[in-house]
Order: sequence, then structure tokens, then C-alpha cells
Amino acid sequence: MSESSESTPVTPNGKKVTTLRLRRWKSEGRTIAALTAYDYLMAELLDRAGVDIILVGDSVATIVQGLDTTVPATMEQMLYHASNVTRAVQRALVVGDLPFMAYQVNADEALRNAGRLVKEAGVEAVKLEGGKRIAATVERIVDVGIPVMGHLGLTPQSIHKFGTYQVRARSNKEADELRRDAVALQEAGAFAVVIEKVPAALAKEVSKSLDIPVIGIGAGGGCDGQILVSHDMLGLYTRFHPRFVRRYAEMAGAMQEAFAHYVADVRAGDFPNESESY
Ligand code: KIV
Repeated sequence: MSESSESTPVTPNGKKVTTLRLRRWKSEGRTIAALTAYDYLMAELLDRAGVDIILVGDSVATIVQGLDTTVPATMEQMLYHASNVTRAVQRALVVGDLPFMAYQVNADEALRNAGRLVKEAGVEAVKLEGGKRIAATVERIVDVGIPVMGHLGLTPQSIHKFGTYQVRARSNKEADELRRDAVALQEAGAFAVVIEKVPAALAKEVSKSLDIPVIGIGAGGGCDGQILVSHDMLGLYTRFHPRFVRRYAEMAGAMQEAFAHYVADVRAGDFPNESESY
């Protein structure tokens, strides 16, 4: 089916992004641009800028809540943030993260939680971490009509198992495991896979070998798409600066400067002035 013969809705920000279009873009070699959002305002800006996939990531735990890991993020928090994001988005595909322990216990619980993110928060797809181990769960969720995005390589929900955020799959054994996990996710019906912080050559090879799009983060330029945490690329979250993050702005400095300027103006009696008063 050609793009023009589809009945995909056209939104004020462009033609709606669907999992079908993402798959087509892969075959056409059009690279997918994805970023994260946790609130209405950020999501609105991302959508207007033409971002294809907006992920409501469980990174909200570190970025918004100031926690050290994503492990404590809860379903209720993800539902709250996802519903703020979906309210703002017209064009992008919105994907919601299933937080740690929302899908690991059994497939029934995973399905119920995936369904909550879709029904209560309005996301169009869910993301979960893992490969072969969770393939049956992915199949179950996809089977009821909920698109699933996988997440391999550095999987932050397993930080206590690995004890480090260093590059993954450098060894042949781990690289082979990742290759098998990627195939397992595709066979289970996942529509895309995020691959985080692995050698660029491996990510490129996996991208070439799969029919579904591979979205890389810290995985080099050979993937079908790229994702970053918005607060990282804006220079707003500055606790860490991994080498894979390109900073497109230095918002933390600019905001702090504006706040300090305001404080100085208030103290000096310079704000508000006459034109800012009634
Ligand atoms: O939670 C998140 O923001 C993510 C991205 C880093 C891919 O999973």
C-alpha cells in the first residue's frame, strides 16, 4: 500500500505516526527520530518539532524525581505522566514504559498493566526491557492488539544485577545473546526495539538483520532511528554527561541565569515596574 492510498489521519502537526509507517520508513531508509517526555508542555514542543516517537520513559524517576535509578518508578506514576503527554500529542506515536515489576511476575499482570497504560493514559504502545526471557509476555500483549517495543543492551531496570551503566555486549557471548534476544522480540511480534549503549558495529548489524526498526541510544549511527532523553539533549539534566548525548542547548545554565536575574530584580525593587502593574 502506498503512503497516499492509506487512510492515516492528518493532524495539525502532520500525518499521524503509526507502527505501520515506522516499519515502512525502515524499508525506505528514512531514519526515525525519538525523544522522551513526561509532561504536557515538553510533549507539545516535541510533537510540533516533528519528533516521530515520544517515549514516556521510566527515566522520569531519575530526571523528575531525582532518584538514582529507574527501579522505583510505579505504574501510578507512569499513568500520570503518560496521560499528561498523550493529551498534548497529535502526530507522534506515544510509547509508555512499563516500570520495573509491572510485567515480570507473569503475563497476566503484564497484560493488565499494558492495558492500563493504553486505556487510562492513552498511549499507543508500551515498552519493556528484556529479550527471550519476556518473549512470551510480549506475544501475549501484542496478541490483544497492543504494540510492544523491546529494550535490549543496557537495561536500566536491571542495574542492581549488573552494578554498572557501562557499555554492554562487548564480549562475543553477550553480543550473541543480544542477537538472539532481538530475533526473539521480533518473532514475538514487537514493532521496534530500543538498543542501548552497545558497540556501534553490533547495533548496525542487528538493525540490518531485523525487519522491525531498531532505535539506538548510545549505539552509533547505524540504527534505524535514534532516541535520547530530552532533558539530557537540552542540557537541562547535567548530573551526568555520557558521551553519546549531544547537547543541543545549555538550558540549565540559561534557566539558572534567568532565576538569578529575577531574584536580583525583586531584591532591587526593579520588578515589577509600572508597566507590569495594574
Ligand atoms: O526511560 C527512558 O527514558 C528510556 C530511554 C533511555 C530509551 O528507556
